[in-house]
Amino acid sequence: MQQFLSVEDVSDPMALVSEAMSCKESPLQASQLGNGKTLGLIFFNPSLRTRMSTVKAAQNLGLETIVLNTGQDSWQLEIEDQVVMNGNKAEHIKEAAAVMGQYCDILGIRTFPGLEDRDTDYQEKLLTAFVENCGRPVVSLESATRHPLQSLTDLLTIEELKKKEKPKVVLTWAPHIKPLPQAVGNSFAEWVNQTEYELVIAHPEGFDLDPKFVGSATVMTDQNKALEDADFVYAKNWSSFNDYGAVGDFPDWQITSEKMALTNQAYFMHCLPVRRNVVVSDDVIESDQSVVIQQAGNRVYAAQAVLQSILKSL
Ligand code: CP
Repeated sequence: MQQFLSVEDVSDPMALVSEAMSCKESPLQASQLGNGKTLGLIFFNPSLRTRMSTVKAAQNLGLETIVLNTGQDSWQLEIEDQVVMNGNKAEHIKEAAAVMGQYCDILGIRTFPGLEDRDTDYQEKLLTAFVENCGRPVVSLESATRHPLQSLTDLLTIEELKKKEKPKVVLTWAPHIKPLPQAVGNSFAEWVNQTEYELVIAHPEGFDLDPKFVGSATVMTDQNKALEDADFVYAKNWSSFNDYGAVGDFPDWQITSEKMALTNQAYFMHCLPVRRNVVVSDDVIESDQSVVIQQAGNRVYAAQAVLQSILKSL
């Protein structure tokens, strides 16, 4: 693999899931593969799971890591071309990315959307600038529009737990107090569309995802109907794509034990972090049906499978 920005960079997504499973069974199977090489993890936004799981994955492969929190630990970066840089941005992305490429063999980038201008966010300017200027393979640690490491993790978790070949997987919008990116929902739909699973996406009117990601999924605006006979319930908030960045006020979309009772004893999934009793009730997230901790644990092996594949291509 030459880069990991979306499912389109993966020739066989289910083979990569199998590779992640193999990493979980034997985490140190390739513990020398990264010897002498360095992974740079560049965070423009906060992270717990992505940061720690990717460092752990790198350790399992013998890779050194350099973690940089830009804006806090380094200079503010300018990403627009032909700008007179007389403001607060001291360095251009063209130099910064190229310099990081001098120190690192692979670069992971986390960059969230501004959620103010859809075209700007969906152009993925920052991620693209790294790809064009760093001269190294780039791994998305969540970009403005996608979170592929999370989606690979999610497929690994479903494969571990599924009781039938084609489980019914429901991705449901859930309430939140502030606008959140569409990245997790977009990516989850994009990856599940590569599987044999039945995918249903439930959201209130006006909270459709970009059709490009929805693909062949069934879309419903009746959450209770969507949850009927579900084998997996994946809850996630996303702000409106059409009324870009609008947050929505639908508290009844919280996942409660009453909602879970409609399902086929479904497993409850969420990428975390999650706001309890806003997105999901305490009793659901603490129930035996909740697999959020297993899911977060699997982030290590998804990252390891991706890094391993890239290292083999260097
Ligand atoms: N799910 C996820 O990406 O978690 P972090 O934002 O903590 O990395």
